[in-house]
Amino acid sequence: MSDSRPVGFFDSGIGGTCILAAFRSICPAERTVYLADSEHCPYGNRPPEEIIRLSEANTAELLAKGCKMIVVACNTATAAAIDTLRKNHPETPFIGLEPAVKPAALKSKTGIVAVLATAGTFNGRLYNETKAKFAKNVTVIAAVADEFVDEVEKLKGFPVSELGRPERSRLERIVRAKIEPLVAAGADHIVLGCTHFPHLKPLIEEIAGDSVTVVDPSMAVARQARRVLEERGLLAEAT
Ligand code: DGL
Repeated sequence: MSDSRPVGFFDSGIGGTCILAAFRSICPAERTVYLADSEHCPYGNRPPEEIIRLSEANTAELLAKGCKMIVVACNTATAAAIDTLRKNHPETPFIGLEPAVKPAALKSKTGIVAVLATAGTFNGRLYNETKAKFAKNVTVIAAVADEFVDEVEKLKGFPVSELGRPERSRLERIVRAKIEPLVAAGADHIVLGCTHFPHLKPLIEEIAGDSVTVVDPSMAVARQARRVLEERGLLAEAT
């Protein structure tokens, strides 16, 4: 049995396209619909009730398009809304995002890991529970990087590696101001806890240097989405 209905993705903007790209690379037979709620971007500082309302509206739009599963390709929306979405739509599988603190904490040699995310993600239950459970023995530096969200939206999907010199230098200054203090504090892992940030990964890696691992969860989330489709018999094509 093959299920040709699309998989829906949403984010506050274009951030979640990194999850979409990872998913498409391992599930080429799947149809996908991506919803960027650019009108309300950024979500980072909005109250949870508002993010729940926006996430419900995004979900309704994707379900109206016939989606068989929804990937909440946004850490902030996951933090505020995934429990409500799962409760209100029990027939639909939802895949969420949360900062990959666990693998970073397990692999850290310095005992210091940094997480880059929005304030909404840091205030959420998921992040705080995961941190309490898996990062007991490491110091976690929580760095809010809302300015990165704006910068990624301005790029409109244009790759950082192809920016002209003045624009690249301006962006580099903004990224450096956030990353250098984390490296100076001894962090050997920097977790990208917002789906906008993998779009800046080449720059973050260059500034952080070889002693730091930048943790991008995109492929792990894509694999999890494929696993759920498989388990529920929802794959477009048996692989
Ligand atoms: N891309 C989002 C996330 O993963 C949110 C960015 C924002 O809208 O503030 O958290």
